Amino acid sequence: MAKRNKIALIGAGNIGGELAALAARNELGDVVLFDIPPKADYARGKALDLAQNGSLLGYDATITGTSDWADCAGADVVVITAGVPRKPGQSRDDLVGINLPIMRNVAEGAKKHCPDAFVIVISNPLDVMVWAFREYTGFPAERVVGMAGMLDAARMQLFLAQAAGVSVRDVRPMVLGGHGDDMVPVLSYTTINGIPATQLIAKDTLDAIIARTRAGGGEIVKLMGTSAYYAPASAAMAMAEAYLRDQKRLVPAAARLTGQYGYNDLYLGVPVVIGRGGVERIIEIPLTDSERAMLAKSAASVQGVVDVAKRLSAAAQ
Ligand SMILES: NC(=O)c1ccc[n+]([C@@H]2O[C@H](COP(=O)([O-])OP(=O)(O)OC[C@H]3O[C@@H](n4cnc5c(N)ncnc54)[C@H](O)[C@@H]3O)[C@@H](O)[C@H]2O)c1
Repeated sequence: MAKRNKIALIGAGNIGGELAALAARNELGDVVLFDIPPKADYARGKALDLAQNGSLLGYDATITGTSDWADCAGADVVVITAGVPRKPGQSRDDLVGINLPIMRNVAEGAKKHCPDAFVIVISNPLDVMVWAFREYTGFPAERVVGMAGMLDAARMQLFLAQAAGVSVRDVRPMVLGGHGDDMVPVLSYTTINGIPATQLIAKDTLDAIIARTRAGGGEIVKLMGTSAYYAPASAAMAMAEAYLRDQKRLVPAAARLTGQYGYNDLYLGVPVVIGRGGVERIIEIPLTDSERAMLAKSAASVQGVVDVAKRLSAAAQ
């Protein structure tokens, strides 16, 4: 009998719950919702609600809640949302001091119990947290990836579709760089079913869309008092599915660069191919001078926060 996949979701909060719902609905495998001991019953309750939802929607996934890492043992995929989200007025980088020790704690658990998993990090500041997780675990870089580019691109996709008066399904955006306010929406690779977006949308509208995409997370934080969770969960589950079903999807994701685009030992959003080998390829595409300059600015700001993380990690030793 074929073995069911096992998906461990570390953090049973807003994104964790939606991840579990999507994984179950798409029958990607059995789901373990893990959270810290004070939130164990919360995780169990959410898991029970989602299991009962299966009676209505007709899925067979087993969904359990726990605060015991042993229950995550042997997971094929681990998705990490552990940490705190932004509050209005905070930048993602403001979270580094709180979320870094949490990432160390999660890395210890994952290293011990899920040493062979494909790991998708969502916690912010994203590019730094995924770098830290890999640093703490020493896992091969092709098995540790950060989700941000698919979400940022989804935001841009919606705004472009609205401006062009076409279906979101026909818009192909590209957003690279770090998951911060200086992310790099790449117009030279953004098309509407093959037609360059620049031919269908006026420049001032495109400029406004780029600005709104960059501030897209903050727009929702301001409205809700906490960060988005539906679209982040959908993006991460698409990445998990690409791995589990060996789909070879080409998506933007935070991958560890070893010379590509001129950066080394830095996680940054770039086009990658995800299949059963994890991040099977990092795709290098030519950029215009101004896109390259924007990428350099974004990389410098990620590197700055990585340096803060290095100092905090050293101080905690
Ligand atoms: N990468 C992205 O594009 C993106 C998008 C949105 C949000 N985020 C980030 O994702 C993270 C989670 O967001 P959320 O809305 O689900 O937050 P949330 O507060 O609803 O859930 C986070 C959960 O993590 C748990 N947690 C804390 N320490 C833990 C530990 N050591 N082990 C296991 N669980 C632990 C908390 O108890 C909480 O239940 C935040 O850092 C947020 O900024 C990233």
